[in-house]
Amino acid sequence: MTDFVQLATHFTDLSAHATRIADFVRLADDRSCVRPWGSEAERDVSTPTIVFQSMDMISPDELCRIKDFDLRITPNQHVYITGPNGSGKTSLVRVLTRLWPPTRGRVLILGGATIACAPQDTVVYSGTLLEQLGMTNDTNNDDEACRTLMCVNLASLPLRTGGMRRFWTRARWAETLSPGELQRLALARLMLEKPTFAILDEATSSIDMPTERAIYEEFWRRNITTITIGHRMDPSLMERIAIFVTLDGKGGHVTRRQGEELVFDSRRRPTQ
Ligand SMILES: Nc1ncnc2c1ncn2[C@@H]1O[C@H](COP(=O)(O)OP(=O)(O)OP(=O)(O)O)[C@@H](O)[C@H]1O
Ligand SMILES: [Mg+2]
Repeated sequence: MTDFVQLATHFTDLSAHATRIADFVRLADDRSCVRPWGSEAERDVSTPTIVFQSMDMISPDELCRIKDFDLRITPNQHVYITGPNGSGKTSLVRVLTRLWPPTRGRVLILGGATIACAPQDTVVYSGTLLEQLGMTNDTNNDDEACRTLMCVNLASLPLRTGGMRRFWTRARWAETLSPGELQRLALARLMLEKPTFAILDEATSSIDMPTERAIYEEFWRRNITTITIGHRMDPSLMERIAIFVTLDGKGGHVTRRQGEELVFDSRRRPTQ
């Protein structure tokens, strides 16, 4: 009887998980939810572009994290976002990836732009090395996977994992690779996804500086525009950043362009 009662609990859990997965698949298929197109003129934009228009964002704890946020990001205009802990940097990513809706204003993804993200906490899955990289276990993928692993300084990883197609559990991946190696793996996955815009949310925080530099150079060589969230960056990389956004943790922000004066300071606006 005890076994039956436990089985019933498992089935209830399974049913709840299946419902959530079904909801997720339905939402993922609803492209209008993923890509809120703007007006006719905006739809005609041929350059991949991300636009934040007068956006406010309130976090679930009902505090205004970002107020009156305006920003237009186009290819090769690399962005750097910084600010104190809890100021809403990752929340901005959640809005951009449609996990949270903006409370006011709009976020437009135009001109066929695609966005992918390496989150703050590195995610690994149970599976093979190729599957970690977001690829199938097809032998045709080996060359591209090896080339990309070399770019993130993980060329020897296939030797350590017993090849490209050896199954490891999620726990084994997480325990075997160092935090910096896990981040490099996640960045290789991001490169292979080939988005127009790649969001790196503190995704190089455990990576040594020479490797970090090489990884950014590789993203830019592959024509992937980076949106970096961080607390510090190598000065030689900073020189290549076009737009700097600093959140102040009270809803205010400052936006600057490389070599230019302040373009927008929300704190100078009269309170609405
Ligand atoms: N699901 C949630 N429910 C309630 N509050 C949340 C939730 N998610 C985030 N917050 C709050 O929103 C604020 C901003 O969080 P966010 O993760 O964007 O900060 P951050 O700038 O990325 O910080 P860090 O530098 O530590 O990564 C935090 O105070 C956080 O507690
Ligand atoms: Mg964060």
